[in-house]
Amino acid sequence: MSRRYREAEQRLGVPPLDGWGRRNENPPGMSLWRLIREDLRTHGGNPFEQGFWALAVHRFGNWRMDRPKMIRAPCTLIYFVLEKLVQVFAGISLPYVVKVGRRVRIWHFGGMILGARYIGNDVHIRQNVSMGVAQTWNLKAPIIEDGVHFGAGAAVLGEVLVGRGARIAANSLVVSDVSDGATVLGIPARPLPVRPRPRRSLNEIARDGAAPLQNSSTIRR
Ligand SMILES: CC(C)(COP(=O)(O)OP(=O)(O)OC[C@H]1O[C@@H](n2cnc3c(N)ncnc32)[C@H](O)[C@@H]1OP(=O)(O)O)[C@@H](O)C(=O)NCCC(=O)NCCS
Repeated sequence: MSRRYREAEQRLGVPPLDGWGRRNENPPGMSLWRLIREDLRTHGGNPFEQGFWALAVHRFGNWRMDRPKMIRAPCTLIYFVLEKLVQVFAGISLPYVVKVGRRVRIWHFGGMILGARYIGNDVHIRQNVSMGVAQTWNLKAPIIEDGVHFGAGAAVLGEVLVGRGARIAANSLVVSDVSDGATVLGIPARPLPVRPRPRRSLNEIARDGAAPLQNSSTIRR
């Protein structure tokens, strides 16, 4: 386990493995209703987005942990039925024990096993992404910081920290820490070298059109 991973566990308040799932880990200071409304906005206001269903059920699964036992017991039954329905009909597994931040966007559906220990704010996740343990006997799973973008089919396994604003290329396998803002690709994933782009004069830009912006907002959705 890297020093950065240990430091991130503390800094981000990642729930300890022996206390997993015992508390409401929804983002603090927001009611369940406000959180669900925000998740709906993050999913383009479309209540039929499967990613929105997964997050709404996840928020509900955490919310029930604060309720008195009399209310929590039936809610637990409802939660497990809804969680199974999301798995079957959307192909998304997002257990309530994963601490999830705000405005997380799950694009499309299918083949997603999102078993990280922590997923930060403004993370974008695409179809067939896997996050989870590297070996079945070691329960340490990835920590995903704010603003990370996952390409389709990416897998992040084991005690790895994916730093703020990093981009994981489609079909990459991440088994070691990723620095803030890096783009990694391949199996195993390695950072994409930052190459200087040829500079163009204003006349050339006017003639040929603007080059695509070189930041995460240009990832095709
Ligand atoms: C990783 C990614 C963000 C890189 O974007 P970028 O910064 O614009 O980089 P480029 O497209 O210029 O590619 C840089 C190099 O990486 C290679 N590359 C890009 N994506 C790759 C991938 N997933 N696997 C392996 N190599 C890849 C390119 O071929 C290029 O190689 P070269 O330098 O030898 O020509 C983008 O390719 C990606 O994977 N986005 C995910 C989008 C997605 O999953 N969409 C699904 C929509 S349904």
